[in-house]
Amino acid sequence: MTILVTGGAGFIGSNFVLDWLAQSDEPIVNLDKLTYAGNRENLATLEGDPRHIFVQGDIGDRALVERLLGQHRPRAVLHFAAESHVDRSIHGPEDFIQTNVVGTFRLLEAVRAYWSALPDAQRAAFRFLHVSTDEVYGTLGPTDPPFAETNRHEPNSPYSASKAASDHLVRAWHHTYGLPVLTTNCSNNYGPYHFPEKLIPLMIVNALAGKPLPIYGDGQQVRDWLYVKDHCSAIRRVLQAGRPGETYNIGGCNEKRNLEIVHAICALLDELAPAAARGVRDARSGQPIERYAELITHVPDRPGHDRRYAIDARKIERELGWRPAETFETGIRKTVQWYLDHPQWVQRVQSGAYREWVARQYGTATA
Ligand code: NAD
Ligand code: DAU
Repeated sequence: MTILVTGGAGFIGSNFVLDWLAQSDEPIVNLDKLTYAGNRENLATLEGDPRHIFVQGDIGDRALVERLLGQHRPRAVLHFAAESHVDRSIHGPEDFIQTNVVGTFRLLEAVRAYWSALPDAQRAAFRFLHVSTDEVYGTLGPTDPPFAETNRHEPNSPYSASKAASDHLVRAWHHTYGLPVLTTNCSNNYGPYHFPEKLIPLMIVNALAGKPLPIYGDGQQVRDWLYVKDHCSAIRRVLQAGRPGETYNIGGCNEKRNLEIVHAICALLDELAPAAARGVRDARSGQPIERYAELITHVPDRPGHDRRYAIDARKIERELGWRPAETFETGIRKTVQWYLDHPQWVQRVQSGAYREWVARQYGTATA
């Protein structure tokens, strides 16, 4: 059999593809547009591996998707592809609507046509797994219980609104057409191959370069962090045993304030790559630094910034027996070490263009 993955050259998708093929010989067709966030170098170890069929293309290209489905006859489609960064969605929402909403709609239509024509047994066994986010639930107050699957969708950013729209489309394709869908809503991921526009990798690469560590607002916002390999294991489990039509929240029970995260990264870098030994200087003053935390800089807040996310992951644990393997302490240490071990990967993905908007919005400290 075969599975079709969309967005498998991005952060989570490439971790998923690598993990899948490390554990299974079932081939993957990987459809990815290779936007700024898609990076074939993440998949370099699969070069020449016949189990990995990479196709550069758009999920919104229905003819292409239909051709791939007809040719490879997958038993499942795992839909990771999306525009994923909140700041970019504030700067320019158009791509988010095109890919996350229109793209998901076209993908669903192509999959529905393929699935409808399958023989009975294959139709019954087929799955469309939609990878979504906890941001669709909006924001929590300090004492609210974590998001459960029964929470209403109350998205606040253009990104989360586009993901909420895609969740609704997936749900409707199940209720109206019977497509056997599964939806996962996961909290913030971190780990290898994370594009350094997101909080954790940005702080690591900026610190090592002596650049400011920009904290939006007071830095007391809370996110619930999950090591990316744990997200991948949860998705494998939902694909294997999830009930069609159901949604599953995935999270690490690791609520942390942004400032705590940044201090934890600085402390790990102080231990693993001391600034004095590397000769790191503050990029603004040119002065040598002793501790990476000296680079922490508060900047204006993100417009519409959600204050707190937290996931109630009891359903996936109770029904499917999934639990994360990493604690935040083990996961963040692995992550910092990965970035220290892969300076070339970082260098090759860093591009300047979008940071110009970030500098205008949050101040030159973030440039
Ligand atoms: P990413 O931005 O790192 O990767 C997205 C991938 O999708 C890239 O490889 C990109 O080239 C591809 N892509 C974008 N538009 C496409 C299109 N039109 N057609 C085909 N491919 C396209 O994102 P990520 O962080 O790996 O997130 C993957 C999925 O997981 C997304 O759906 C996101 O909403 C969801 N998610 C992410 C997190 C997180 O913390 N990163 C948490 C929960 C859910
Ligand atoms: O919750 C899941 C979501 O997590 C995913 O659906 C998104 O795809 C993913 O990007 C992530 O969204 P966030 O907005 O939570 O992640 P980000 O890394 O952009 O920011 C994390 C927190 O850190 C957030 O409160 C904003 C803050 N932040 C971020 C950056 C980039 C800063 O304070 N400074 C920064 O420079």
